[in-house]
Amino acid sequence: MVKPSYQPRLDLTDWKKTDTLEFEKILTIVAPELYSFIEEHAALSQLMDQVREGYHTELYQKALDTIGHELEHHFLYEENYILTRLANHITETEVGPIAKLKSEHNIIRKHYQEAMALFQNHDPENPSHELIQKMGLLAYLLKKHIEKEDHYLFPLFSVILTQGEKAAIAHDVHLHTTTKKE
Ligand SMILES: [Fe+2]
Ligand SMILES: [Fe+2]
Repeated sequence: MVKPSYQPRLDLTDWKKTDTLEFEKILTIVAPELYSFIEEHAALSQLMDQVREGYHTELYQKALDTIGHELEHHFLYEENYILTRLANHITETEVGPIAKLKSEHNIIRKHYQEAMALFQNHDPENPSHELIQKMGLLAYLLKKHIEKEDHYLFPLFSVILTQGEKAAIAHDVHLHTTTKKE
């Protein structure tokens, strides 16, 4: 007897499209020094809304390029500039926000690598179900991660971090983006 192969299905019932009004409201509860993060979230979130709609070669390429860039910049800025300062207030690093945020980043990095491998070897005439599912999962994980950061973490970072720490974060991001620009 042939065993039916397992086909995981993605539950997208709680998917919420990026909306401008909500974005503007979020800015009212986030410190201006951290706005660049929220702006990047909104842009990536919009792109993930498109990825969720289905296979398109150019769109997948753009999404993977953008995610790859975010992993090298945005994700690292959060880890190196924000979490290191949050550690002044929450010293626990094995459980809690510092550990969880890093672990979510690593899960996203892993799925991105897998999506890249599937995309690089795929036939645009006949994209596999696996690739489409992986891109859908990656988009979903990013959406949920951004939602968590926008609605919980960044408003709380804004309250917990000192004015000096927030200014230092903005300074570090600015310095890195201006020196890195090609
Ligand atoms: Fe993040
Ligand atoms: Fe983020």
